[in-house]
Amino acid sequence: MPSQHFLTLFFFLLISCNTLTTSTSSEKQDTFDFVRPIDRKLLGLNKKEKLSHFRFYWHDVLSGKNPTSVAIIPPSSKVNSTTAFGLVNMIDNPLTLGPELSSKLVGRAQGFYASASQEELGFLMTMNFAFIEGKYNGSTLTIVGRNPAINLVREMPVVGGSGLFRFARGYAQANTHWIDFKTGDACVEYNVHVFHY
Ligand SMILES: *[C@@H]1O[C@H](CO)[C@@H](O)[C@H](O)[C@H]1NC(C)=O
Ligand SMILES: *[C@@H]1O[C@H](CO)[C@@H](O)[C@H](O)[C@H]1NC(C)=O
Repeated sequence: MPSQHFLTLFFFLLISCNTLTTSTSSEKQDTFDFVRPIDRKLLGLNKKEKLSHFRFYWHDVLSGKNPTSVAIIPPSSKVNSTTAFGLVNMIDNPLTLGPELSSKLVGRAQGFYASASQEELGFLMTMNFAFIEGKYNGSTLTIVGRNPAINLVREMPVVGGSGLFRFARGYAQANTHWIDFKTGDACVEYNVHVFHY
């Protein structure tokens, strides 16, 4: 009888649906759709968050045979050029423990800075501090911020990080140690306060 077949099919569907649901829930640990809540312990984030103060020197070397800071886009010719508006420098600047370029290398500042102000000398800084020192070797901090270079101290946000700096946040303060106005070379002290695990 056809009605019996329908009933069988109905029960078959009911059972297979049930089986499907059961298998999905049992696979929950290793597969998921797009997003799932997870325990902090799985990422080692159940530890107390630390607050650290890092200090090092950032060297903007434009002169000589081995510059680490290179203008890749010239300032715009459309506006008053006193602030070099539009200039973009790509950097791979050494970060050293002391103010001398020859002192211990602790990392590099890789990224770019761009003149973003028409009224005063002000840069948009976009860079990663890629550390090589001790346990921080391979970990990075990302800085994105405004740098009004003439000011004594400029503060920029630390927006995140990688490796030991996962979930990092904080701020970096820059103050110029020395600058050679003829070549543009500069040494800038960075004090970075950062929360991390
Ligand atoms: C450019 O700006 C500076 C500072 O605001 C001003 O002194 C100078 O006269 C300006 N130059 C021109 C060509 O507009
Ligand atoms: C940092 O790590 C890299 C890659 O693991 C390694 O080659 C390098 O020697 C390390 N540098 C320091 C200063 O420990």
